[in-house]
Amino acid sequence: MQIFFTVREHLSESTPCVYLLGENFDAIPTTFSDNFPVSSLINFFEKEQTPTTIFLDDQVVFAVPYLAPTEENYIQKEKMRNQGFLVSQMLKKHSLSKLQVFADAILTKDSVLCFLEGLNLGSYSYEKKGSSENYFRDTLQVEVVFPNENEILEQEELERLTTLCDAVWLTRDLVNDPPNFKKSSLLGQKIEELGQEAGFQTEIWDKERIKAEKMGGLLGVSQASYEDPIFAKLTYSPKDATNDTPIVLVGKGVTFDIGGSNIKTGTSALEIMKSDMGGCGTVIGLMYALAKNNIPLYVVGLLPITDNAISNKGLVPGDVITMRSGTTVEITNTDGEGRLIMADALDYAKELAPELVIDLATLTGSAVRAIGEEGIVFMGNTDELLKRNLEKIGRDVYERLVEFPLWNEYKDYLKSDVADIKNVGGSFAGAITAGKFLEHFVDYDWLHLDIAAPAYLMKSSSYRGKSATGTGVRLLYHFLIEKFL
Ligand code: BES
Ligand code: MG
Ligand code: ZN
Repeated sequence: MQIFFTVREHLSESTPCVYLLGENFDAIPTTFSDNFPVSSLINFFEKEQTPTTIFLDDQVVFAVPYLAPTEENYIQKEKMRNQGFLVSQMLKKHSLSKLQVFADAILTKDSVLCFLEGLNLGSYSYEKKGSSENYFRDTLQVEVVFPNENEILEQEELERLTTLCDAVWLTRDLVNDPPNFKKSSLLGQKIEELGQEAGFQTEIWDKERIKAEKMGGLLGVSQASYEDPIFAKLTYSPKDATNDTPIVLVGKGVTFDIGGSNIKTGTSALEIMKSDMGGCGTVIGLMYALAKNNIPLYVVGLLPITDNAISNKGLVPGDVITMRSGTTVEITNTDGEGRLIMADALDYAKELAPELVIDLATLTGSAVRAIGEEGIVFMGNTDELLKRNLEKIGRDVYERLVEFPLWNEYKDYLKSDVADIKNVGGSFAGAITAGKFLEHFVDYDWLHLDIAAPAYLMKSSSYRGKSATGTGVRLLYHFLIEKFL
């Protein structure tokens, strides 16, 4: 499905309509039939704060209750997104091509935009590969009537929101794609196509180029695989960019993580390891959104892409490899592969004299165990203000973050007898020691987002959906705009 939002002045009769109610029932638009069931709705909403379907003469109306703004604004916004999600699920029964959304005049623009965002993101479904069951991929035109006298809803805002949601869908698609549909060469082609479409430049480095760059981490991880690694460099450099040196985004692109010779045992973790390119998927979606919306920011994406296979050509525990930076690393666990490929990309980023580097990676089970699916574990060396800003945006888009420390003492966890450092720091503080490993390779302002849990959900409970969520796309889109424009 593709969803388009457009601004309309007035409601039209008979088209199916979502009605975002105000607090009193006197303001019901006159375009609705006189049979509008006021008293039964009042009864229903007294018990339930959820949307309900009304069948008027020849019109379907999805009535959404008024939510009194009693709590913090960001919680209110999330409630509106979830109302949008609930309506998206109700729509599935109706197969519509056109829908209107009418907001009572007391609703704020923020709450309406959040509702639309939840409606859009909640409508996502993955287009099955090679299946005829793709009925849900048609077009839904959504016309929005916003009569609030104090605020104006511009068509352009709706278009930007549509593009941002498209970008989240794109990231979800990439992460949901089966591993055999996104081997590094195929993902490289896909990145080139998306660059053409959205308007960013792409360079796909092959194994020879990666060797020339001496990216020992990426080469080491990929040496077990039949499939050659790639390193993708995405550049979005609009003429009117407000920053001279780039904001660099680094995304972990492990297309499938078997674990290498430290093979993942059991199936529960293994079967979701196609999502181990979630960071890469987010960077692609984010750059797509920035470029398509012509955001005047100079941004570079760096994506080391490989799988972490098992074979007799692969790394074994005890091996020592030399990274792009020259640092030697003892591999104590081949399942700690993400940090190895990320470190080479972070080292390369030094050459770009970045304004800020943000990396995203489904990096550790430790982050999953620590805070579960409800948030992103992050670390970094930037000033406090920037971190607090990121957390604030995180609450606003409801992709919340928790900071973990990078205390000096954790460095000792990575001491090795045979190399400069080892790749894994033992069983304590796993998310932190992974962050500490990455920190070794940076000399600029840097934020590290471990999205292992929220990038891919085991069950659906909201507009985030089941499986791939696109975590980080909305967060960093808003963060970069707010911080750097
Ligand atoms: N891709 C995994 C991390 C992961 C776990 C992502 C669960 C999503 C869900 C990563 O490569 C990994 O295997 N990490 C190991 C590190 C360990 C060997 C120190 C882990 O967390 O178990
Ligand atoms: Mg691993
Ligand atoms: Zn991994």
